[in-house]
Amino acid sequence: MVERTLAIIKPDAVNKRVIGDVIRRYEAAGLNPIAIKMMHLSESIAEGFYAVHRARPFFHDLTTFMSSGPSVVLVLEGENAIQANRELMGATDPQKAEAGTIRAAHGASIEANAVHGSDSPETANFEIGYFFPSMDLQAGH
Ligand code: CMP
Repeated sequence: MVERTLAIIKPDAVNKRVIGDVIRRYEAAGLNPIAIKMMHLSESIAEGFYAVHRARPFFHDLTTFMSSGPSVVLVLEGENAIQANRELMGATDPQKAEAGTIRAAHGASIEANAVHGSDSPETANFEIGYFFPSMDLQAGH
């Protein structure tokens, strides 16, 4: 099924100048960018985005990191895009990410892990709507 998913190239990856490499990997994997914007998240925008993690001990560090510099926010469309992007990214902790994945290539730590990707259809709907409120959530529109 053709799906849409929300991806973020995080501040550490932007700072390392690998925006182009990450987008090349999306395209090579059949994950086509259909919306893209560069933005410096405020702390409150990061808090709203990661609201499901609000009770986690790492929440404050996460939102501080995500608002530390510009990110690139994208909607990717492709066959099974949500799972395909998760496989392309690799494990959350770059030390555990398989060779060839984006996080193995560019992640430095569980916090500075280069990219974010939606983890389920429900999350994808919330996340796409959060950053692209006028966009259709399903493919084919
Ligand atoms: P992401 O896929 O953006 O979703 C939540 C983020 O929290 C995750 O990637 C990590 O970068 C970050 N994070 C920081 N510490 C932890 C932790 N101990 N466990 C899981 N995620 C963490």
